[in-house]
Amino acid sequence: MRTEQSKTIYLKDYQAPDYLIDETHLTFELFEDHTLVHAQLVMRRNPALSADLPALTLDGQQLELLELKLDDRELTAADYTLTDSHLTLQPTQASFVIDSSVRIHPESNTALEGLYKSSGMFCTQCEAEGFRKITYYLDRPDVMSKFTTTLSAEQHSYPVLLSNGNPIASGSEEGGRHWATWEDPFMKPAYLFALVAGDLWCVEDKFTTLSSRDVTLRIYVEPENIDKVQHAMDSLKKSMKWDEEVYGREYDLDIFMIVAVNDFNMGAMENKGLNIFNSSCVLARAETATDAAHQRVEAVVAHEYFHNWSGNRVTCRDWFQLSLKEGFTVFRDAEFSADMNSRTVKRIEDVAYLRTHQFAEDAGPMAHPVRPDAYMEISNFYTLTIYEKGSEVLRMIHTLLGNEAFRKGSDLYFERHDGQAVTCDDFVKAMEDASGIDLTQFKRWYTQAGTPRLAVSETFDAVAKTYTLNFTQSCPATPGQSDKLPFVIPVELGLLDARGNDLPLRLQGEAAASGTSRVLSVTEAQQSFTFVDIAEQPLPSLLRGFSAPVKLSFPYDRDQLMFLMQHDSDGFNRWEAGQQLSVQVLQELIGQHQRGEQLVLDQRLVTALRTLLQDESLDQAMVAEMLSLPGEAYLTEISEVADVDAIHNAREFARQQLAEALFEPLWQRYQANRELSRNTAYVAEAEHFARRSLQNIALSYLMLTGKPQVLAATLEQYEACDNMTERLTALAVLVGSKFEVERGKALEAFAEHFKDNALVMDQWFSVQAASTLPDGLARVRVLMEHPAFTLKNPNKVRALIGAFAGQNLVNFHAADGSGYRFLADQVIVLNALNPQIASRLLAPLTRWRKYGSERQALMKAELERILASGELSADVYEVVSKSLA
Ligand code: BES
Ligand code: ZN
Repeated sequence: MRTEQSKTIYLKDYQAPDYLIDETHLTFELFEDHTLVHAQLVMRRNPALSADLPALTLDGQQLELLELKLDDRELTAADYTLTDSHLTLQPTQASFVIDSSVRIHPESNTALEGLYKSSGMFCTQCEAEGFRKITYYLDRPDVMSKFTTTLSAEQHSYPVLLSNGNPIASGSEEGGRHWATWEDPFMKPAYLFALVAGDLWCVEDKFTTLSSRDVTLRIYVEPENIDKVQHAMDSLKKSMKWDEEVYGREYDLDIFMIVAVNDFNMGAMENKGLNIFNSSCVLARAETATDAAHQRVEAVVAHEYFHNWSGNRVTCRDWFQLSLKEGFTVFRDAEFSADMNSRTVKRIEDVAYLRTHQFAEDAGPMAHPVRPDAYMEISNFYTLTIYEKGSEVLRMIHTLLGNEAFRKGSDLYFERHDGQAVTCDDFVKAMEDASGIDLTQFKRWYTQAGTPRLAVSETFDAVAKTYTLNFTQSCPATPGQSDKLPFVIPVELGLLDARGNDLPLRLQGEAAASGTSRVLSVTEAQQSFTFVDIAEQPLPSLLRGFSAPVKLSFPYDRDQLMFLMQHDSDGFNRWEAGQQLSVQVLQELIGQHQRGEQLVLDQRLVTALRTLLQDESLDQAMVAEMLSLPGEAYLTEISEVADVDAIHNAREFARQQLAEALFEPLWQRYQANRELSRNTAYVAEAEHFARRSLQNIALSYLMLTGKPQVLAATLEQYEACDNMTERLTALAVLVGSKFEVERGKALEAFAEHFKDNALVMDQWFSVQAASTLPDGLARVRVLMEHPAFTLKNPNKVRALIGAFAGQNLVNFHAADGSGYRFLADQVIVLNALNPQIASRLLAPLTRWRKYGSERQALMKAELERILASGELSADVYEVVSKSLA
């Protein structure tokens, strides 16, 4: 499996392509046991390079070459060289045409890259380097071409034939086959190519653009899912409108299509005019999808749609620039979601995710900069760092420039580079040119890996009425980068007086105060800022809105955190103060557990949460967020050495204590909200999400008390609700409870009712995989034998095995190493079936340095066993070898 591609590729070796492909004419003949692909490439020497004619090397893998022509001249084996990844030949003129015919086997493609079959339909996934599994080509994003695609298939099984762009011709052939031709007028790299053939139904709608052009919108799904498409269609129309209003970006083709497929390695793909989605990111209706799933659909539809400009019209020069399109587009979709729902809640969710998972990646063996300078397998670099940290980098540019200059910068970027394949430097240059702000030092965020620490201390001078904040930044070493230079860290902050009001902020040397919340740029290793006219000792509110992806420390005591929780004018920082308070309290409990002492919960946490629960004027979604204690994975990330059992016990103890102490207010809020849910039909909107989120977190606490009235309420909610959000919460609460009989009954009833809905069964698997009751691994093993489970479907693998290793930390990290052995076994099987999924699944094992020496040894032994297990894919090999290095 590992061939030439397991070499390391370096950014410094980038060279412009020797040849260009002006036109690409593809013909696909789809059959049950093979597919024939004919490609006609209209090529020429790259005019930017010298006039000589070097050899032409095309990418191609797993292709059976049937015929090859150069300018209509049939080539024989003597005219070219063929390896398992390349085809090399010698052009004789500056302009020429290559015709190739190959045979491929989508019907046996389990890697789900290139052309493959999913639930009986043909579909493609070409990003990043999948097109080379379809035909011989210059499979690199800086080679852009005009594509025309003809596909033919048996008409009865594949009535729908789709590709990028506009349909220009179609017809039938004898023998029950038919064909269609699509033409995409926009130049694009091969990774944006797509094709679909299947028995699909569609929902059609239309959108009228800013300049009054009508665009046909179609979402294609399997017939049985046609009733679950409306939410995605609504999301698409909102996205199109938002991109016009906020970025001035209009859609450019006459038709925009989304196709849902069941077997998909990722969430979705932005192919020009023909997005292909994991069905989990399209299908949503009240009865089958949770609130979280509805919000995910909205966000993914937006993300892929936004790529039409940030990714397709302007694309990446090479894959080192991946964050150019992904970081920017994640930032765009996050702002869209913030505008559609609750801005503060969206920010809280994103920051919690970043700090738990991206910070862990940045501290582990796969740490890399937002713009990496080397990789072995590009599929491994669709990482939290490229996506989430990349988005934070864009957010910081937005913060430093302000909204208006940022918009000017994005307008300039799109105008300057439309139709081009560019770099992160080109993006930053447009931002600099439009704003007049020098971002030279800022660009270290693109090149230095690791999470910066920012330690802050204060000095107050009551006589001089000055208040000074002293900042010290540093960044730990990461693989290949021992010394780091200071970053530009935008720190938004305010100063609170004793009543909790924001003070006017005037820095020494300024003529007058400006505002009560402002952004300081920390650019040096050590730097101080002095505020004047400060009459009393203030309490600082630092890094408001999480204005930079750093680990901030300030010596707050618990009373100060409680004060910020109540009074900070920044909603994000109110939540953050609560999290810091919880972390302090939980770390104290962890210490008590480790010393074998009795656990004693600091009652201030109880008081703080009681105050929140009793204040009915607060946003319910915020209350729900603030009731959620930091997760075990986050507590692991911030530990020097993670003590799995102590973390789990401490957190469960705190939850139990809170449930008992706050029973009354929790019960009251639960009942009031459940009552409203009972009397309101399901609506997928922010205020309804908020009500259900408070209701559901309240229920999960209440059930810890084991009281009979809570069991009765849970069963009532389970049976009488009209939506998956309430039903799944009730199920999860039962699954984690001591009520064995009710748990068994509910699980059985759920599976019976939803056995034909694969996406709902995924949730059924996940709820059980995440249950931290003892013997978790044994339950997962039993579930792997369930008829609805298969290793061939990535959603199933994620739902069961991924949830076990990622969410069920006590069971996965069982001291006997059984969880590690199990995961390694699955990785070894998946390595042959689907390398991308295998390599992603293995991430938890790569974090071995976080644990005590026994667990370290067990985890490393499994990584070594994988390494020795035989023919490893480049994907798995890269991750395993780097994590052992
Ligand atoms: N371009 C990616 C999809 C992709 C990634 C295809 C890697 C092939 C290899 C797409 O735009 C994307 O980023 N999708 C995300 C969801 C998004 C909302 C962040 C995904 O698939 O997880
Ligand atoms: Zn993307």
